[in-house]
Amino acid sequence: MYRSSFWVAALSALVLGRPVDECSSKPAAFFLAGDSTTAPDGGWGDGLLSFLKKPAIGLNIGKSGATTASFKAGGYWANVTQHLKDNANKYDTYVTISFGHNDQKSTSGVTFQQYQDNLIKFANEVKSLGGTPLLTSSLTRRAFPSGQDHNATDSLHDQRLAAIEAAKQTKSPIIDLNEASLKYVNAIGKKAAYEYNYGDDKKDTTHLNPHGSVVFGRMVADLIIRENACLEKFFTPNETLSTAIWNNKPA
Ligand SMILES: *[C@@H]1O[C@H](CO)[C@@H](O)[C@H](O)[C@H]1NC(C)=O
Ligand SMILES: *[C@@H]1O[C@H](CO)[C@@H](O)[C@H](O)[C@H]1NC(C)=O
Ligand SMILES: *[C@@H]1O[C@H](CO)[C@@H](O)[C@H](O)[C@H]1NC(C)=O
Repeated sequence: MYRSSFWVAALSALVLGRPVDECSSKPAAFFLAGDSTTAPDGGWGDGLLSFLKKPAIGLNIGKSGATTASFKAGGYWANVTQHLKDNANKYDTYVTISFGHNDQKSTSGVTFQQYQDNLIKFANEVKSLGGTPLLTSSLTRRAFPSGQDHNATDSLHDQRLAAIEAAKQTKSPIIDLNEASLKYVNAIGKKAAYEYNYGDDKKDTTHLNPHGSVVFGRMVADLIIRENACLEKFFTPNETLSTAIWNNKPA
């Protein structure tokens, strides 16, 4: 009885061409590794996590001031890998890796080559722990040369290329936030882009206020979903916001 009903179901699935569900049955867990542009209070990380839906989980481990080297030396990377180990059984684990703003400073003690190598090491370590690295190119700064309100300085160009190279070398997805955020702020222009600036005086053009965190967090969520449609069910949609972002309208 049991066996025959199994075969009836299997056969009807075959005949009807029911698509095989290739998505994992485990929920997703997102751990965010990065500098202040990911971290709470100034980054897009909490904005991204605000869209997460149970049973998915997430934790923002971004650290203000971090380079790829200090993130590791300060024990923050060990925090990420501990979470990967602790959650590997129950969850499909993902780690966003987004640095560059501090690594690129001449005083950082991190050369460009070391920066790229560190991204590669992080990504390989995530993979070795059964997770998926999401190399996320650096959020653009919103600094516009005078008289060029639609031409923000492309100050993280090389850091973006390093993230792309790290993704390529480790066969990992690239979440090209730098490209998307630069295009977006150039399209909406300086005045609208400044609405996301951090601080009461809105003069900090690197970090995000709470509204900016939600807007660029949504941008990252949409880029992740575009990369892996299986993850869509773990994010609460906001069509209004997504439509504005991807149609170059101030959000
Ligand atoms: C890991 O990072 C989270 C988020 O910053 C923090 O709350 C937690 O205390 C850290 N855990 C360890 C062991 O450092
Ligand atoms: C944008 O700025 C760059 C220099 O940062 C300059 O080379 C380029 O010509 C500018 N583009 C436009 C359209 O003004
Ligand atoms: C979608 O995002 C917009 C802009 O941040 C916000 O005003 C609105 O309340 C959000 N809609 C929902 C349903 O959360």
